[in-house]
Amino acid sequence: MKFSFENSTRIHFGEGQIAQISHDIPTDNKVLVLYGGGSIKANGVYDQVAAALAGHQWGEFGGIEPNPQYDTLMQAVELIRSEGYDYLLAVGGGSVADGTKFIAAAVSYPGDPWEILAQGKPAVSALPIGCVLTLPATGSESNIGAVVSRGSSKLAFMDPRVRPLFAVLDPQVTLTLPPRQVANGVVDAFVHVIEQYLTFDHGAKVQDRFSEGLLLTLIEEGPKALSQPDDITVRSNVMWAATMALNGLIGAGVPQDWTTHMIGHELTGHYGVDHGRSLTIMLPAVMKARRVQKGDKIVQLGERVFGITAGSRDQRIDATIEAVIAFFKQMQVPTSLADIDLGDEAIEKALASLAAHGRQGMSEQGDVGPAELRQMLELAR
Ligand code: NZQ
Ligand code: ZN
Repeated sequence: MKFSFENSTRIHFGEGQIAQISHDIPTDNKVLVLYGGGSIKANGVYDQVAAALAGHQWGEFGGIEPNPQYDTLMQAVELIRSEGYDYLLAVGGGSVADGTKFIAAAVSYPGDPWEILAQGKPAVSALPIGCVLTLPATGSESNIGAVVSRGSSKLAFMDPRVRPLFAVLDPQVTLTLPPRQVANGVVDAFVHVIEQYLTFDHGAKVQDRFSEGLLLTLIEEGPKALSQPDDITVRSNVMWAATMALNGLIGAGVPQDWTTHMIGHELTGHYGVDHGRSLTIMLPAVMKARRVQKGDKIVQLGERVFGITAGSRDQRIDATIEAVIAFFKQMQVPTSLADIDLGDEAIEKALASLAAHGRQGMSEQGDVGPAELRQMLELAR
């Protein structure tokens, strides 16, 4: 398909690169450093950022929670409006990056900024953003999307003006991640690739081969990130793969299907399920429900990524879905609702809020509606 591709985020990759931020932020800008629940104070990242900003005037806003909450973010908006910051520096994982993107757009928004998420209203402008990434997973550090929660509603917006101008990717800072977050990040990146790849045969070979390379890397290195937690080469590969998985490159000009993410967001909204885990619960069910429509690509995934070449087409599809589940189990994440003690009530709640959020006509074919969503959630039991 036709496409215009741009990714303007400057990446500083490698150990010690946090120091670079002093060159990327104009010295006459007043900087607000935004972070989460305090991991950056425990692992030395905060100190590195403070040292890099020694020549700048700066303040801070902490307490952005996982699955960032609208009310918390609006406190930062008020702070910026009253104290006049020019530049936002997000220091953390996807939640801090996403929260910062929303804040950047909300500051100048004339009405209730929730409209940007709930009604898809365009932002007026956005403050410039830089990012020091501490958790490889979402790709938020160099993409234009952000996901924000308000109560049980978890909604996304996209705007090129909130793409970070630069991102520091120092794999060293990921060594303090708890295993649960390492696993969440690897599987989130894996599902990002899958949702841009597992559609139908469209002949875009470059996007397919890049995607298969990222999947192979995540399958090889992900389990090692758990079993050899101090291996910096492993962490480096995971970090770069996660950024590349959702920076626009592999999705340019190809059909996409974000059904797994959309259902996953409802599970997170209602039950606080970690984002990555909501995906590993739903993806196998989505693959089962769409085995006909996605059949060619499932077979290709099986052959090129998992080495599945024997058996009938149906057997190869089954084996590929089982291989995906086996990878998730290796990453020690749940693969069914039962694995996290959810059942029929969760299915009904998710369906009700999918309807309330207008999730009709999903998938690369535009043909997934309430009946198909029910089938997927029931297959995830
Ligand atoms: O809050 P702190 O104290 O920093 O602790 C965090 C948090 O508890 C901790 N952590 C992060 N880096 C650490 C660390 N702990 C120790 N050492 C480090 N180096 O990890 C916990 C989880 O952090 P969070 O930012 O919530 O995780 P993640 O990066 O997985 O982000 C998830 C959010 O991103 C959204 C998700 O929906 C979810 O809200 N997504 C954003 C996307 C985008 N913008 O393109 C796409 C994704 O599909 C996703 O939807
Ligand atoms: Zn995701």
